[in-house]
Amino acid sequence: MATPTPVLAIKNLETWYGPVNAIKGVNLEVQPGRIVAVLGANGAGKTTLLNTIAGVIDPFKGSINYKGQAIHGQDPDQVARNGVVLVPEGRQVFPFLSVRENLMMGTFARAGREHVEADLARIFTWFPRLLERQTQHGGLLSGGEQQMLAIGRALMARPAVLLLDEPSLGLSPLATADDGYIMELGRIVAAGSCAELMAKDDVKEFYLGGGHQQAREDGQKQRWKRRKTWR
Ligand SMILES: Nc1ncnc2c1ncn2[C@@H]1O[C@H](COP(=O)(O)OP(=O)(O)O)[C@@H](O)[C@H]1O
Ligand SMILES: [Mg+2]
Repeated sequence: MATPTPVLAIKNLETWYGPVNAIKGVNLEVQPGRIVAVLGANGAGKTTLLNTIAGVIDPFKGSINYKGQAIHGQDPDQVARNGVVLVPEGRQVFPFLSVRENLMMGTFARAGREHVEADLARIFTWFPRLLERQTQHGGLLSGGEQQMLAIGRALMARPAVLLLDEPSLGLSPLATADDGYIMELGRIVAAGSCAELMAKDDVKEFYLGGGHQQAREDGQKQRWKRRKTWR
């Protein structure tokens, strides 16, 4: 049976900040309809990877194909218009625009103007808090509500691929994902279905522990010193 074309196929990706090599040859695929989680400690390169896919940063090497077409080197607005939309770290809602206006900002990154009202109505059914607060300034929402707003704004662009940076800080992302990649210092060190990854002791210990986020990060740092390779 032929495997379907991945919606996103990243090959040998390298990204640098001046002399800092943040992404060191990453290969990653997203199959249609799948949720893919990229996990890693602070500084692993998750944000850089997403910003490179979204066109915010240009890669130095490698390729990013979206539905079989190369998109690396495109500007972020073009990438978004094509259907690859980023929900940035820290949400970045427009604090002095209303909730409704924030959502409408997402429509500038869509190909056409049809279905705007219907899409808005759908987002309000998914996030009733946003409906209740649609006339309030975005900056007055709680952190969780701002996350809903940032996701809603991205969905208003009608994305085919939604890139979420830290959507679930402190939660266990593998529980909702289908496939996962573990990143360390700019490299992918483990990959597989979430079922496969969750069976690995190291992954369980660092990313799925029930403990407090800080305790997990401390544990991660200690293990980092002890451990050389992933099994
Ligand atoms: N603007 C920048 N300039 C220089 N180095 C950066 C910049 N942003 C991130 N880095 C470095 O790139 C690496 C990856 O960072 P980042 O992508 O933010 O990781 P993560 O999102 O996994 O925490 C880190 O070493 C970080 O210090
Ligand atoms: Mg980050």
